[in-house]
Amino acid sequence: MSTFTDTDITASEVVDLYQFIYISRITSTGLSGASTLNNIAETSIKNNKINDITGILCYGNGYFFQYVEGTEQALTNLKNQLLMDERHKDLQMLEFAEIKARRFQNWALRSIVLEQWLFKDPNLTALLPFKPYTWKDEDSSKFLNSLQQYYNSQLKEEEVDMQPIKYNALGVTLSKVVGQHQAFFLIQTVLGTLIVLALLWFMLADKF
Ligand SMILES: Cc1cc2nc3c(=O)[nH]c(=O)nc-3n(C[C@H](O)[C@H](O)[C@H](O)COP(=O)(O)O)c2cc1C
Repeated sequence: MSTFTDTDITASEVVDLYQFIYISRITSTGLSGASTLNNIAETSIKNNKINDITGILCYGNGYFFQYVEGTEQALTNLKNQLLMDERHKDLQMLEFAEIKARRFQNWALRSIVLEQWLFKDPNLTALLPFKPYTWKDEDSSKFLNSLQQYYNSQLKEEEVDMQPIKYNALGVTLSKVVGQHQAFFLIQTVLGTLIVLALLWFMLADKF
């Protein structure tokens, strides 16, 4: 008698792959850490690689939106960690369900600080400002699809990177030279100096 029974075949086809989607609010603890997002991304990339979790973390307007995929056990463990993490609160699970394939195969965790440029898709302008607690189910899935399109476009351009925070072109260049946080402060300082110089110029222009 063959040992390859139907049951064996079905069992071998079962793929333990789940998606876990949630939203949460950053806390004062989260806001008080100078590099909260980078710290989260650093730990997550390390842990998620070990646990074979892939996904994306978005932050904007004080809210997190995270989509992760992996085995049921790995995601349950992560969910329990997230529930204890004091850097965010009011975790609202949008979905914990079985899936057939990964959406973000190459990203242990891509973290994105939402910026206008992410919303070039006119379908998404209705979702601005970023307030995911007010979204309907279809809004979340529209948003997720758009993130996946963005991911796919980066895949095509072979630009998939693991940078925790995405800057504009100037920021990317600067962050490579001086590091991510310094790049942010450098841009702020340069813009601040330009504004002060412009104000001085207007004030002094009258005097001469
Ligand atoms: C918004 C948010 C998203 C997070 N995402 C992940 C994640 O994808 N993977 C992960 O391992 N930890 C994530 N963390 C951190 C976990 O809550 C927890 O601090 C971490 O898993 C502990 O790891 P450690 O035991 O290696 O220190 C996240 C935390 C926050 C606040």
